[in-house]
Amino acid sequence: MSLLVSTAPIRAASLTKPCLPVAIQGFSKAAAAKGLPEPLSAKTYQHPARSHRLFSSTPQHQIKDYFPPPDAPRIREVETVWVHPVYTDEQMRHVTIAHRQAKDWSDWVALGTVRVLRWGMDLVSGYKHPKPGQEGDPKFQMTESKWLTRYIFLESVAGVPGMVGGMLRHLRSLRRMKRDNGWIETLLEEAFNERMHLLTFMKLSEPKWTMRLLVLGAQGVFFNGFFLSYLMSPRTCHRFVGYLEEEAVITYTRSIQELEAGKLPHWENEQAPEIAIQYWKMPEGQRTIKDLLYYVRADEAKHREVNHTLSNLQQMDPNPYTAKYKDPSKPHPGKGIENLRATGWERDEVI
Ligand SMILES: [Fe+2]
Ligand SMILES: [Fe+2]
Repeated sequence: MSLLVSTAPIRAASLTKPCLPVAIQGFSKAAAAKGLPEPLSAKTYQHPARSHRLFSSTPQHQIKDYFPPPDAPRIREVETVWVHPVYTDEQMRHVTIAHRQAKDWSDWVALGTVRVLRWGMDLVSGYKHPKPGQEGDPKFQMTESKWLTRYIFLESVAGVPGMVGGMLRHLRSLRRMKRDNGWIETLLEEAFNERMHLLTFMKLSEPKWTMRLLVLGAQGVFFNGFFLSYLMSPRTCHRFVGYLEEEAVITYTRSIQELEAGKLPHWENEQAPEIAIQYWKMPEGQRTIKDLLYYVRADEAKHREVNHTLSNLQQMDPNPYTAKYKDPSKPHPGKGIENLRATGWERDEVI
């Protein structure tokens, strides 16, 4: 990805380089005909001046855009190679909560770790899921800002595993002078996608310093923990991410349900940020926060599938998500969600 030097405010400057808006390279004519947005450019990209953020510690008059357009007069746009696949409304609505049964000790270690982390995250983000009959109890009520706290913490952690896995496979390929067989791209793309989730939610909120400190600490611990764990057992780590993504699908499903039940009134008619509209190529008329949550949930379901599948493979197997199949007419893993498998593909189905 191209790097630009920004003269934006200090706060934004620390985030700008890797966070620049993406231009949609290869934007198809078919997509254009469906009313999908034009690629991002310095000319067309407008950062809407937000009158408020739902989750903010900064006085209104001091709120600035986190990543305004770069001050680079010769640059028209910045492109990404990771163009997001187009999801249809029907495909996104078919995403469901699912769980892959743990089958061996490696699976149980992964599942146990996710359950402990889930407990910690519920504590941090002030989330308590009501038991049946407790739905009306005020202590279980979630607000838009509470959901955003949860999303931001979740997404800041979720972007780590793909980058660590991709980096370690890259280093292993160099070290052993052997091919990687296509895993690195998928893992790095997952990390990019998670970062886009975070950047999107950052457009809706401004975390307090306590949250920033928490994210910093969590990243330090999680990066190192995942790094060491991936060196020891990549298979367990992919299963762990598969289970983590199961939790992410649960989180987004519950927030969508609350939004549709009228419990999040501020989001009823709120438009998704421009960065999200461009990244997911959200069609005209489907650009609300609710639509955005459907897109994010579908991404999480895809990560769930990818990581459960990678955990089912041997380390030198070709990546089923970048492979070309001898018989393409049979359903097989791909970039989109048309053949989504909630619990992953088994090795003998794809290799
Ligand atoms: Fe995410
Ligand atoms: Fe994810």
